[in-house]
Amino acid sequence: MSDGTDATSLRVDGDRLLERLEALAAIGPITGPDGARGSSRLALTDEDRDGRDLVVTWMRDLGLDVAIDEIGNVVGTRAGTDPAAAPVMTGSHIDTVRSGGRYDGNLGVLAGLEVVETLERHAVQTRHPLAVAFFTNEEGARFQPDMLGSLVYAGGLALEDALDVTAIDGATLGAELRRIGYAGPVPCPAARAPHAFVELHIEQGPVLEAAAIGIGAVTGVQGISWQELTIDGQANHAGTTPMTMRHDAGLVAGQIAAFVRQLTGELGGHQVGTVGRMDLHPNLVNVVASRATMTVDLRNTDEAVLQEAEARLRARASELAAAEGVQVASRVLARFEPVSFDPLVVDLVEATARRLGHTTMRLPAGAGHDAQMLARLCPAGMIFTPSAGGVSHNPAEHTAPADLAAGADVLLQVLLALAQVA
Ligand code: GLV
Ligand code: MN
Ligand code: MN
Repeated sequence: MSDGTDATSLRVDGDRLLERLEALAAIGPITGPDGARGSSRLALTDEDRDGRDLVVTWMRDLGLDVAIDEIGNVVGTRAGTDPAAAPVMTGSHIDTVRSGGRYDGNLGVLAGLEVVETLERHAVQTRHPLAVAFFTNEEGARFQPDMLGSLVYAGGLALEDALDVTAIDGATLGAELRRIGYAGPVPCPAARAPHAFVELHIEQGPVLEAAAIGIGAVTGVQGISWQELTIDGQANHAGTTPMTMRHDAGLVAGQIAAFVRQLTGELGGHQVGTVGRMDLHPNLVNVVASRATMTVDLRNTDEAVLQEAEARLRARASELAAAEGVQVASRVLARFEPVSFDPLVVDLVEATARRLGHTTMRLPAGAGHDAQMLARLCPAGMIFTPSAGGVSHNPAEHTAPADLAAGADVLLQVLLALAQVA
């Protein structure tokens, strides 16, 4: 039963969406050097638990049936009229990197709740159930790989292996899940694939803003290669050891970091490369570093070029290590091939955004997203809203309130089209 509103003219309440974003951002608050307010809720920390508790409370207040699975993914479901129909799912993540902004992930989850609240207020029913999910450890900042919860949900990583993953602080994922009370009873991987999955997310890059485009119809996600390199040299005295007699792990780590930047230039195109973490041991002013550990993040929309980047890095790291007389070993932290979203979902996102009066553009996602894992299970796609200055993973991350509401409106109408108004 509807209150008589034509469902195609339904719009979300942008202020209500903003209020929820503000309230969630206030958990694990951080302030950037420029005074910008962001959030730090690394996966399965106390802050993540507090954020989860708040979102679960909102889900229950909206009447959703809340299910917590064995990897801590939380799915809130609004019943449809057809008991046999699989749910249309939306959602994202609410964990953040240590230097997180207010919107990365949070927008997709809270816009999902806003869609549910809009449907509730207008008494609009859908044939398919509507599910709003947040997935465990999307960021991959504390535990690797990234998108871990949605990967297990999609059957891409065994539950037992995921529960055994060790955090950068030495904690175990399974123990941390139990500690914060989110080791749920619902079996994971999911027993039943959703009918479709659509995720709203901020772009986190500069493309939409530079082109003055309101909504991005995301075509896919680039491939991701994360590895940890461990370089073993020899600790020695900084004053007495001749330069020709050193086996300096720190030097080689620095050379590899410089090569990663050079490599992106050599390969050109969409190749990006980042050394985001580097630790030296014993990390003292007057000791040649005996060990360096560092991460390398390589991404490309083209799998062949990504493989080429990995091969060139391997070769150069070996050369540099041999020249300094150190050993280098590598460990894969995450490896995902590029993903293409379902063409029908991409078309639907684009057509819906246009119908709502927004300018649109098709573009690939530069960041990893839960939707790329759900794409293994069902037709999937994403909606992007612009990011001011292309800044993300930074408290200064910003999307204008009108753009947030526009994205949520497109999400509402796409979900209605997929779930079919009853
Ligand atoms: C995770 O979301 C990433 O893209 O690093
Ligand atoms: Mn994200
Ligand atoms: Mn992120």
